[in-house]
Amino acid sequence: MIAGYLYLVASICFILALRGLSSPQSAVRGNLTGIIGMAIAVVTTLFVPNGLDWLWVFVAVGLGGAIGTVIALRLPMTSLPQLMAGFHSLVGMSAVLIAFVVLLVPTNYGLGSAGSIAATSLLEMGIGAAIGAVTFTGSVVAFGKLQGMIGSKPLVFPLQHKVNMALGGAIVVLLLLFMATESSLVLLALALTAMALGVLLILPIGGADMPVVVSMLNSYSGWAACGIGFTLGNILLIITGALVGSSGAILSYIMCKAMNRSIFNVIMGGFGETGVAGATGADGVERSYKAGSAEDAAYLLQNASSVIVVPGYGLAVAQAQHAVQEAASTLSKQGVNVRYAVHPVAGRMPGHMNVLLAEANVPYEDVFELEDINRDFAQTDVCLVIGANDVTNPLAKTDPTSPIYGMPVLEVEKAKTVLFVKRSMAAGYAGVENPLFFKDNTMMLFGDAKHVVEGIIKAMD
Ligand code: TAP
Repeated sequence: MIAGYLYLVASICFILALRGLSSPQSAVRGNLTGIIGMAIAVVTTLFVPNGLDWLWVFVAVGLGGAIGTVIALRLPMTSLPQLMAGFHSLVGMSAVLIAFVVLLVPTNYGLGSAGSIAATSLLEMGIGAAIGAVTFTGSVVAFGKLQGMIGSKPLVFPLQHKVNMALGGAIVVLLLLFMATESSLVLLALALTAMALGVLLILPIGGADMPVVVSMLNSYSGWAACGIGFTLGNILLIITGALVGSSGAILSYIMCKAMNRSIFNVIMGGFGETGVAGATGADGVERSYKAGSAEDAAYLLQNASSVIVVPGYGLAVAQAQHAVQEAASTLSKQGVNVRYAVHPVAGRMPGHMNVLLAEANVPYEDVFELEDINRDFAQTDVCLVIGANDVTNPLAKTDPTSPIYGMPVLEVEKAKTVLFVKRSMAAGYAGVENPLFFKDNTMMLFGDAKHVVEGIIKAMD
């Protein structure tokens, strides 16, 4: 009874945490509320009578906690998406393993004796295991793509959608068979088929569309936990799983809108399939570009009356946010109107740029979303693009064969002068060359973003 109330308090904490995380201003409070909710949930679960051996519980919690702490301390912030994919895969695998454990010793979970488990419980178990298996392998593939172990180009093969549909059909048949037979072999076949589907769903998705994949797998991991919550009869797991599942689904929808993709294609997999012909210097034509120095950039910026800064993944890699904020406030003091334009998928995770800018104390009112600022580039003197590439690439508007085609982009080329800060002429995450580098009103500023911006600050002095 008391456990029920405490679970309710934990659930309320999780809902408030989600609400807090919806804006950078309240994100820290949201995180703290989530931590309190999780502490209540874990402690309550430990004290619920469950016949568990305390020694094993402490060994597992200690080991998992130690591994988690080491990873969190050592991991650079730019690798967070990979970490999320890794965690999602663990949630998926746990769902599969728990389904097997419950099937083997159902009495421990109040589901009667082996051979006489209710069909509805078998259905919950099967669904939880299937979603968990898809999440597990899908997340492993996503991890490989984000880590650069698997190429970011879409991997497509003939009859892909038909194979996926056949696997989906096989999962339904195996689920019914499992309900009829309660066989562990059928459950194994179900999990393996779902694992194959997980791989095939994520492989064809191109680099630029990975934001949708990460949020979608987040949602799947929630539903897997929710399904297993039903099997274990654990209300908190059901609520938490549903919260993660639905918030992940809403985030996937927001990401789809930002990328101009259809949610149906995402769920079916393979929406990167138009991108087989990557444009990375494929024409082999040598084109000229202008490279400038920090002094050139300082001169242009100080003589501008309006500047828009466009941050991207390179800003995160270089940790250039503080230098950028310092340069912007110097310019503001000299009467230049400086604003920031943030693309919804800039960086490698939702809200990545907002977090970095907030960390550097950039005022929230100076930060604008794509749809609120895109029209203003035409009236802007200088656009300072720092470590951003795909989110500015105009091929998204003009080249139907490009993997990024259809994605709304920041129209930086409309500014009088565009300064691109990056280390080389290399393509962005989607592997597509950016034609803006060769335009007359573009100047490339080569180097690590932090060093280049620090050079600009020095030159402005
Ligand atoms: P990208 O297209 O990846 O471009 C980043 C650029 O930063 C690169 O071209 C790189 O060029 C430069 N760079 C890297 N390190 C740098 C450093 N230390 N100093 C200066 N420049 C550096 O980034 P974007 O424009 O932010 O677009 C994001 C891409 O990631 C999109 O394709 C998006 O779909 C994808 N993605 C996003 C997410 C989320 S949720 N945001 C998740 C997964 C994938 P050099 O190598 O020449 O320096």
